[in-house]
Amino acid sequence: MRYPIEPFRIKVVEPIELPTLEERERLLKDAKYNIFKIPSQKVFVDLLTDSGTGALSQRQWAAMMEADESYAGSRSWFRLKKAIENFTGYEDPIPVHQGRAAEKLIASIFLHEGAGVASNTLFDTTRGNFLSVGARIYDLPTPEANDLSSDYPFKGNVDLNRLGELLKENRIKLIVMVLTNNTGGGQPVDLDNLKEAYALAQKYGVPLIIDACRISENAFFVKRRNPKYANWSLREIVLESFRHSDGAFMSGKKDGLSNMGGFLVLRDEKKRMRAKELLILWEGFIHYGGLSGRDMESFAVGLEESLDETYLEHRTGQVAYLTERIKEIGWNVMWPPGGHAVYVEVRDTLQHIPREKFPAHSLVVELYRRGAVRTVEVGSLMFKEAARYEFVRFAIPRRMYTRSHLDHVIDVMGEIYDDRVSLVGYRITYEPPYLRHFLAELEPAP
Ligand SMILES: Cc1ncc(COP(=O)(O)O)c(C=O)c1O
Repeated sequence: MRYPIEPFRIKVVEPIELPTLEERERLLKDAKYNIFKIPSQKVFVDLLTDSGTGALSQRQWAAMMEADESYAGSRSWFRLKKAIENFTGYEDPIPVHQGRAAEKLIASIFLHEGAGVASNTLFDTTRGNFLSVGARIYDLPTPEANDLSSDYPFKGNVDLNRLGELLKENRIKLIVMVLTNNTGGGQPVDLDNLKEAYALAQKYGVPLIIDACRISENAFFVKRRNPKYANWSLREIVLESFRHSDGAFMSGKKDGLSNMGGFLVLRDEKKRMRAKELLILWEGFIHYGGLSGRDMESFAVGLEESLDETYLEHRTGQVAYLTERIKEIGWNVMWPPGGHAVYVEVRDTLQHIPREKFPAHSLVVELYRRGAVRTVEVGSLMFKEAARYEFVRFAIPRRMYTRSHLDHVIDVMGEIYDDRVSLVGYRITYEPPYLRHFLAELEPAP
């Protein structure tokens, strides 16, 4: 494909630096081979996450200058409230500082020891929050997602047959549909799949909540890949998605195009009141929920900007460009290209490193060692036995990098491919009980 032309020009620049090989090797050792502990100024191209890392627009910066930092009744909150209501169709939203704060509220309100949660595949923080109250997690990705290389357009879907069976057995207390399916390779969920999942949820009287982090990207894929919705606007698709739910939460650091922010919406008024009580205890008053007025302003504008089709064409085009080039080198990738990130499955290419030695982590380390490129492991290190894949995720921050940055990543991936037999596995020397990848310490285990 042709590289997508940027629908913006650059007004502010931030210098980046490529440290020497000696420095990179020392930094890796000092970080105990945990990429989260590398200082960001020592990273040349940072594809660790697209969460809160994108460039803000001039409209966002202008809105931030008008922010109202009042504790109660802030003008900025009422602006954000209206933006969330327009975006979701829900009334009376609850602000949170980021997605996982909403996850904690949901866990406290909906779940308890032994409660079953079904999902197309939960994200790691959602899983961690739900496990922390003793919930049982059932990830039910569609069987089509097992074939990474097929052209199936909606590999983020939930397996409706298995969902129906578990609901029938009365094992599920909550359904969470993640749009797009981050852990399942950034793949979109078809609107029709969501509608059918919601019909099942209603049949069995179980609430369905949408994790709406990347719902604008998801809507873009629905429009492009399901001919039924080809003439719908992205706003209509997003609203129709939210209509098929009993609640939703969003990390505004993704399709809110903001550095910080999030929200929770719930249809049930009693549950909403409970969420507000807990919000005040944990996050802050109901008119800011842990956010500054500036965050709320930038989030309100970002929600609108995320539905701009020109922006989404460029964004998904960048992901497709990087996916195609990496695939051409010989690496296995999640196909077709999804939203926000490229997912490289390393098991075949790094066959000499067993899963217990974290082959995807090995590639993460090597990408930094060779090119100061930072990515993240989404495999056995992150998910332990629950890992379905050994992915390295290359998440592209929004509106930030240009073609030559992506070409640098492609060059490094080419070099590593040629030298792949030289990569070694890793062993953990320290790990915390939850979300171990953030704080884990490792050492090479040749
Ligand atoms: C699908 C999904 N859900 C939830 C979250 C959690 O959001 P936050 O990082 O804002 O807490 C993320 C963050 O990456 C995510 O990708």
